[in-house]
Amino acid sequence: MQQVKAVVARTKGAPVEVTTINVPDPGPGEAVVAIQACGVCHTDLHYREGGINDEFPFLLGHEAAGIVEAVGPDVTGVAPGDFVVLNWRAVCGECRACKRGDVHLCFNTHNATQKMTLAEGDDAGTELSPALGIGAFAEKTLVAAGQCTKVDPSARPAAVGLLGCGVMAGIGAAINTGGATRGRSVAVIGCGGVGVAAVAGAALSGASPIIAVDIDPKKLEAAKKLGATHTVDSSQVDPVEAIRDIVSQTYEGAEGADIVVEAVGRPETWKRAFYARDLAGTVVLVGVPTPDMTSPEMPMIDFFSRGGALKSSWYGDCLPSRDFPMLVDLYQQGRLDLDAFVTEEIGIGDVEAAFERMHHGDVLRSVVVL
Ligand code: APR
Ligand code: ZN
Ligand code: ZN
Repeated sequence: MQQVKAVVARTKGAPVEVTTINVPDPGPGEAVVAIQACGVCHTDLHYREGGINDEFPFLLGHEAAGIVEAVGPDVTGVAPGDFVVLNWRAVCGECRACKRGDVHLCFNTHNATQKMTLAEGDDAGTELSPALGIGAFAEKTLVAAGQCTKVDPSARPAAVGLLGCGVMAGIGAAINTGGATRGRSVAVIGCGGVGVAAVAGAALSGASPIIAVDIDPKKLEAAKKLGATHTVDSSQVDPVEAIRDIVSQTYEGAEGADIVVEAVGRPETWKRAFYARDLAGTVVLVGVPTPDMTSPEMPMIDFFSRGGALKSSWYGDCLPSRDFPMLVDLYQQGRLDLDAFVTEEIGIGDVEAAFERMHHGDVLRSVVVL
């Protein structure tokens, strides 16, 4: 067991605090990772607002890269010294999804068995709930060994750690879930960190045109840098018409884009995504709706008559062992600009301020560097 500094959300809605936690030595199937960098994601804020569940206190942070410090007795996949990106999809290999070959859909992903605990205050000894089973706003964290994915050790931790969640979700929404490829058009509605990652994924896939839609011109600039061929400010124009016009310049008669990624997570933007889609096209919902939202009221005949697919994308339908090393290599080759997602590097004490900036839409990602 060792004691390290970490960012904890102790009670619902209260500002997060830097405190000391106990990190157990790794048991069977576990690893302790010394964190080098961890991005600040909306999900961390949702945890601290009590929007995910009530299992306070939470150890926040989950978009991280670091060095494996120690592994449990039976662990063979990773070893001390390995540079890894942490994932929240450690597959079991034994559930129905894994057995039928859909490993990326594993129904029984796992986390560390032992619990990290608070080391300071009246509630010292209380078990922590690590965000997404990771908890990486910490000098060190305990995870399942399968949550550690080895990647090129010369890559910048602050950039590649972001593959651990939001950036992977966006890239995977376009490529893995949406099937973006050459000869297809892609539109992305909502260009925050997840949406611009979907734009970057579409660009990697060779799709064209790639249309970025947002109500914030700053976000559209970022989308252009990551490969959008066209941008649409949907606070000014109807995005459904704009997408149809742009795609039909390339593909005559097209009624919309082949793949429309919704990266906001709201009924009205999902509805636009639906109608901005060409016949037999695919809508991918990667934005996360809140539990109170209901699907938009629409004529059922519209679902039937347009054909195609309405999908949702969890973590970009990624398989970390396949996707992380490949995307890190593309980054190292200069073909995927992960640095563009790192708006700022901050210290472990700056997470609350980063939540505030995220709220105002000023950043793609603030990254805590340790
Ligand atoms: N039309 C178009 N874009 C919109 C609209 C709208 N009506 N409303 C909001 N947006 C844009 C915002 O301007 C912002 O750029 O959607 C983007 C949302 O991005 P972020 O808030 O930065 O969120 P991000 O990290 O990209 O995550 C997107 O996925 O992980 C979930 O909880 C997260 O639901 C959120 C979504
Ligand atoms: Zn499984
Ligand atoms: Zn996240």
